[in-house]
Amino acid sequence: MARTYRIAPSILSADFARLGEEVQSVVAAGAELVHFDVMDNHYVPNLTIGPLVCEAIRPLVKVPLDVHLMVKPVDRIVPDFARAGANIISFHPEASEHVDRTIALIKDQGCKAGLVFNPATPLSFLDHVIDKLDLVLVMSVNPGFGGQTFIRQALKKLAAVRARIDATGRDIWLEVDGGVKVDNIAEIARAGADTFVAGSAIFGAKDYKATLAAMRAELAKA
Ligand code: DX5
Ligand code: ZN
Repeated sequence: MARTYRIAPSILSADFARLGEEVQSVVAAGAELVHFDVMDNHYVPNLTIGPLVCEAIRPLVKVPLDVHLMVKPVDRIVPDFARAGANIISFHPEASEHVDRTIALIKDQGCKAGLVFNPATPLSFLDHVIDKLDLVLVMSVNPGFGGQTFIRQALKKLAAVRARIDATGRDIWLEVDGGVKVDNIAEIARAGADTFVAGSAIFGAKDYKATLAAMRAELAKA
């Protein structure tokens, strides 16, 4: 079955002195989503952006804003990102006392809900909520920094989640985040991913259009 692939550049590796231009460039280069890596220096050992940045970027592009909350506790900040223009909000189950309630909170705000799995996070968190999700995000690095090396165990995890998503018969996106490059994206797609976060592979390249085209050429071979 032909799968729809989406590329979601992570602004974590963008030039923050020219963030608006950077986001418009990657969207012009063909990105279907813009991925916001939100970090609080509590759940992960780094501090990045808040709702203000999402609000500033929102009017510049039409594509969905894909907000990845590496924040604990997470519920407090969900409405702020929804108001700032987020379309998808994903969170880590370890960052919520009540995962089902956080999913409902995100959807009550009119956003699509995603659940994020760190390399050691068991897939059992899907057992009672998979039918309420719009997206599952499998981390192929430990969260906190861009430019890390892809953790190959993520491939098996992607295949397991792909099987569970297909068993639901629902249109749930399967996103991968961390260490995605032109030279591994096809293998990752074959494992079952359909949505690809890439930060340093894209913003670290001179030509965004050429990089995205190279990723698409690889995906066409997957
Ligand atoms: C980790 C971040 C990174 C980022 C992607 O917390 O979520 O995975 O999005 O960074 P690259 O593509 O540079 O590995
Ligand atoms: Zn992310």
